[in-house]
Amino acid sequence: MAKCRVCSTTLVPFISFGRMPIANGFLAEAEFANEYFFDLAVCFCERCYMVQLLEQPERKRMFHDHYAFYSSTSARMAGHFADFAREVINTYLHAADDPMVVELGSNDGIMLKHFSARFRHLGVEPSENVAQAARHQGIATVSEFFSEGLAERILAEHGPADVILAANTMCHIADIHAVAAGAARLLAARGVLIFEEPYLGDVIAKASYDQFYDEHVFMFSVGSVQRLFAEHGLTVIDVSGQDVHGGSMRYVLAHKRARVPRATVAAQIARERELGLQRAETYSRWRVCVEHNRDALHDMLATFKDQGRRIVGYGATSKSTTVINYCGITPEILEFISDTTPIKQGKYSPGAHIPVRPNGDFAANFPDYALLFAWNHATEIMEKEKAFERSGGQWIRFVPTVEIVARDLVQQS
Ligand code: SAH
Ligand code: TYD
Ligand code: ZN
Repeated sequence: MAKCRVCSTTLVPFISFGRMPIANGFLAEAEFANEYFFDLAVCFCERCYMVQLLEQPERKRMFHDHYAFYSSTSARMAGHFADFAREVINTYLHAADDPMVVELGSNDGIMLKHFSARFRHLGVEPSENVAQAARHQGIATVSEFFSEGLAERILAEHGPADVILAANTMCHIADIHAVAAGAARLLAARGVLIFEEPYLGDVIAKASYDQFYDEHVFMFSVGSVQRLFAEHGLTVIDVSGQDVHGGSMRYVLAHKRARVPRATVAAQIARERELGLQRAETYSRWRVCVEHNRDALHDMLATFKDQGRRIVGYGATSKSTTVINYCGITPEILEFISDTTPIKQGKYSPGAHIPVRPNGDFAANFPDYALLFAWNHATEIMEKEKAFERSGGQWIRFVPTVEIVARDLVQQS
């Protein structure tokens, strides 16, 4: 029986998605024969409330020198990180103190570029190609997985960090205790650790099962984060919901007793109790809903195909790897997936091997239907794809339910 990565209690599995490939493992035809697969299943810990994958592939299979996710492909996320940085600078940093800022999983520098000109800083980014994109913009970046050992080295070289940042990274790291211990060691006495990650409450409320894929080994809640970091002397002092990536939560932590927690923390914990996030039956009910959505999506696509309609996927997201392979979507159903990321174009989607093509191919010959895999960027995408709708094209979404979307009804998350 598998044990909780946080507290070693026996886990309760609640959904199995079957065999899955690496979510960002877009590949060439020559690589099909050697594609790696693992069992994607999700569990709940009744003791510490952490939702987590039963199995995660070895980290070097996911993060390496040709990592396909470049953070800066979304203009809206670029704006979001500019706001995030401004808030951190205004609330926690004083240039006169010559503060040190460290970001874990800094990717192509989407957030750190707002600090790099004015503050001492360091990005920790193990995927060498995206780290290199950040260095080209003058952002100091070390290509390593964050660990206690690296925390010690950063401490020795730069002194304590006044702010440690992370976005969509903490929930990727299976050895979360090493990260929490390293962060606690590196953080200055009055420093803050701020991270934001997809939020379990949104995943449950919206049935956004596509948030589960190899990289997302944890799906955090305030309750589970509080308990985990308390073991390392860190306290959650503020939380705030974020309308990005389908619903995220930002957590601010400080050394125990260094800062007074705001009322937001207790309020969110109370909301989590109302949502039932601490009860196993919430997750088994959720599974039934997800299985229904899977069947509904498959049936809708098969019907359109039988009617001779053309269907294209929009956004070769990591999330789409779960949807495509779980719902049995094949290249016969989906002609191709449109995506703006050069490293993904000309390759095939993981598992199902659907071609990924540049956005120009979508615009050159609009399909009848576009399946919105990047539903978290719906507003940004629908705004710039008005011509698709003028051509008579329609969007299909599957979160929170499977349906054809009328433009004015589309919600961001
Ligand atoms: N912060 C960016 C990137 C998120 S993708 C954003 O929000 O858009 C997750 C990033 O974490 C990847 O770039 C990956 O290489 C990095 N990562 C994975 N494991 C890590 C670890 N142990 N330490 C630091 N970064 C890690
Ligand atoms: P995203 O939903 O941010 O990430 P994840 O991989 O975490 O599920 O991925 C966005 C993907 O969608 C990325 O490959 C770029 C692509 N994309 C477009 O093709 N066009 C767009 O207008 C936007 C915003 C994204
Ligand atoms: Zn646990």
